Amino acid sequence: MKTYLVTGGAGFIGSNFIIYMLDKYDDVKIINVDALTYAGNLENLKSVENNPNYSFVQADIRDDKAISEIFAETQIDYVINFAAESHVDRSISNPDIFVKTNVLGTVNLLNNAKKAWSIGDDQYRDGVKYLQVSTDEVYGALGDEGFFMETTPLDPHSPYSASKASSDLFVKAYHDTYKFPINITRCSNNYGPFQFPEKLIPLIMNNTLSHKDLPVYGDGMQIRDWLYVDDHCKAIDMVIRGGVDGEVYNVGGHNERPNIFIVKTIIEYIKENVDSEVGEHMIKYVTDRKGHDRRYGIDPQKIKDALGWYPETCFEVGIKKTLKWYLDNQEWVKNVTSGEYQHYYDKMYAGK
Ligand code: NAD
Ligand code: TYD
Repeated sequence: MKTYLVTGGAGFIGSNFIIYMLDKYDDVKIINVDALTYAGNLENLKSVENNPNYSFVQADIRDDKAISEIFAETQIDYVINFAAESHVDRSISNPDIFVKTNVLGTVNLLNNAKKAWSIGDDQYRDGVKYLQVSTDEVYGALGDEGFFMETTPLDPHSPYSASKASSDLFVKAYHDTYKFPINITRCSNNYGPFQFPEKLIPLIMNNTLSHKDLPVYGDGMQIRDWLYVDDHCKAIDMVIRGGVDGEVYNVGGHNERPNIFIVKTIIEYIKENVDSEVGEHMIKYVTDRKGHDRRYGIDPQKIKDALGWYPETCFEVGIKKTLKWYLDNQEWVKNVTSGEYQHYYDKMYAGK
């Protein structure tokens, strides 16, 4: 039995990961540590909350006392750090919390895991590992050609990606300095169930259903490389089990699409399946995001060759599954789109 300390497990990818793992294995225990910020939602984990191999602790990853207590009470084998402030637009209007959570929180987790796992000078208990869940955004932006490789120099542009690059560098530094066992995964844009509707796909879905404007930044020709969330979960599972100590693995599925294509795909789906009144007239080109990265695209050859990972869900299948999930889970959407989010949305798109 291996025990995983999963941080940020009440967020989009973290909750999908916990469900994926508990569905796949009977011999893993998962402790989900989440501060339950606006992006954390325990409703996502309803299907596993009574599973004896799952438990939840509400704590901030920056809280040294709370994290050290968890390590003292339970023998943890793996830490998977999903916890983060994750939204680029929020990082542009308020960078500070991104430094606090993403950088200081990561360092606090590293310190506690290092202390708990240490069995001598730069030596650690067998079979332990810290995995940092990172993003392709740390590499900056691509032109029309080429892909991000693990060897691509870090060149973050937004406060979000700068904070993620900084935390990656701390994780690397702990490996290089203390021989602390780590992996870093860098994935492209995820989509799937439970994504908070401030991100492109659920936001456009939501707005189309409620006949609101569909905000497209700039010319809408920015390109993202979409990864179905279960394929990301599979990659993390493989890296934990088979990743070579100290290595970085890029995770992406060669599913590059311009934003405007995504928006039109969603409109088309809703028009066909729900509401014939919706259409492209709802698209509203708004002021571009500051410092907007033009294109992301991952070369996943390393993780394919090293671990046999490949993405199982192509975009055409994944987007239909995702949109159907949102349609079938309108109560979930209603519950998360109240309060703080509504306030954020009104401020964000006012006058654009
Ligand atoms: P999310 O915003 O949906 O969830 C983040 C979770 O972290 C929430 O449950 C929140 O409550 C929790 N959290 C925030 N601050 C915390 C703190 N100080 N202490 C404890 N918990 C805290 O994010 P996501 O989309 O699920 O992303 C998960 C990870 O994957 C992040 O590290 C993100 O940078 C990375 N990532 C995401 C994407 C993507 O497309 N969503 C792509 C690449 C990388
Ligand atoms: P987002 O989902 O915020 O992810 P990220 O910025 O991490 O890639 O945005 C995806 C793309 O969609 C990005 O190029 C910005 C664009 N976008 C819009 O055009 N309109 C929107 O309302 C949002 C939220 C994003």
